[in-house]
Amino acid sequence: VAEPDLAGRHVVVSAGGTREPLDPVRFLGNRSSGKQGYALARTAAARGARVTLVAANTGLPDPAGVDVVPVGTAVQLREAVLKAAADADAVVMAAAVADFRPAAYAAGKIKKKDGQDPEPVVLVRNPDILAEISADRARAGQLVVGFAAETDDVLANGRAKLARKGCDLLVVNEVGERKTFGSEENEAVVLGADGTETPVPHGPKEALADIVWDLVAARLG
Ligand code: PMT
Repeated sequence: VAEPDLAGRHVVVSAGGTREPLDPVRFLGNRSSGKQGYALARTAAARGARVTLVAANTGLPDPAGVDVVPVGTAVQLREAVLKAAADADAVVMAAAVADFRPAAYAAGKIKKKDGQDPEPVVLVRNPDILAEISADRARAGQLVVGFAAETDDVLANGRAKLARKGCDLLVVNEVGERKTFGSEENEAVVLGADGTETPVPHGPKEALADIVWDLVAARLG
């Protein structure tokens, strides 16, 4: 049985991958299953926290004792995270959020036209939710944790991302078509804004989640 070291705390976790619609049947998405975020939600609840899980397109069963808010797009995820973060002690952004969305949404299914090249898809920027909540903390001492999904120069990119996003902790994990996304396991290095680096060996996503909560609990005091 886990120590209830997060009792009395409210934590917000985002999980899954946003989908940015092009028309009623198509979207731009990513390979996130939500498993890492759900592992974070389950372990936080086991440690006594009140947990709000903002879940983007996961299709996973709701973890027991966790308040689940389903969302679709990055804009919806931002709204749900900001609302839940208002009284949160910690926010952990494990969701894979689309950096861009289609500039236009076609109300009807986009059709191919005989003999014509397809229309290019024009993208516009989505809000950077992690940077926003890091820069504008809803309450003093709120702890903000990001994830960095990298395919190359993993640590160097992670360090640059930590500085850019302004969060307290950044969990840097390597991803690929068959790596980390959807699997039961993960491995990572957790970078701290205070210069700490905590390597997490390959293991179940729950084990990484527990190490994240150890680091959060120590910083919340
Ligand atoms: O869901 P699984 O299949 O278990 O896979 C887990 C995972 C690989 C999705 C997870 O471990 C992970 O790495 N999540 C973050 C994915 C991601 O979007 O990484 P990023 O490097 O693009 O973004 C960095 C951080 O900024 C993330 O915390 C992200 O939530 C946040 N972000 C990104 C873009 C954006 N517009 N707003 C954001 O808040």
